[in-house]
Amino acid sequence: MDILGIDIGGSGVKGALVDLEKGAFSSERHRIETPRPATKNAVAETIKRIVEHFNYQGPVGCGFPGIIHNGVAKSAANMHKNWVDVDAEKLFSDVCGQEVFVLNDADAAGIAELEYGAGKGLKGLAILLTIGTGIGSALIKDGTLIPNTEFGHLEFKGDIAEKYCSDAARERLDLKWDKWGKRFNQYLLHLERLFSPDLFILGGGASKKFDRYEHELKNEARVIPALLKNQAGIIGAAHYAAQRSRK
Ligand code: BGC
Repeated sequence: MDILGIDIGGSGVKGALVDLEKGAFSSERHRIETPRPATKNAVAETIKRIVEHFNYQGPVGCGFPGIIHNGVAKSAANMHKNWVDVDAEKLFSDVCGQEVFVLNDADAAGIAELEYGAGKGLKGLAILLTIGTGIGSALIKDGTLIPNTEFGHLEFKGDIAEKYCSDAARERLDLKWDKWGKRFNQYLLHLERLFSPDLFILGGGASKKFDRYEHELKNEARVIPALLKNQAGIIGAAHYAAQRSRK
């Protein structure tokens, strides 16, 4: 069965049906602008519109851009503050009238890369970073995901790292890709000092431009772009929903 995966991002909420055998979309992607302000009720309505667009019945997986602990939002850096401590799974399930399973967006991307993409069969320690409005992270050790790592919120250069080198920071500061690559490289070196990973996987919007800044990345661990590019969040969310609904 195809499962609906949804990715809530800082600028768009995107959904697609996912063929879990193939780890690929089986429908067109449907995108709705993220409501501003991105309050809990406004975002829940958007999720409902996506479910309705696909006329979908069944478990839904949804990646959220903040800490999700047992279905409850514990942070909301790029969403409205009224998200904190909200049971996102209950809210979305109630509004949509079907079961919605929620996890952190970068963890969703990590699950997808692990199952179908750049992390498949991987031994050792990998850090996946999604580079978009914020920086999300997924930590994967020998195929096991350690959720909610929030490496984009590590203190770095006087603020949190995502303020220094997310894609939104690149746009805000109007940086050329190589200038931004230099900044991002400093952040990778910092992560390398702290965690000694074997591999970095770069996902999110900036992963599509990897060839523009690859030459600036001078750290020791291998760095590769996410294989599923920015489809990973949706595919991973669908995979997560399928697993949870079977339990
Ligand atoms: C949030 C993370 C999220 C990332 C990417 C950060 O600001 O704290 O939870 O994964 O943005 O959306």
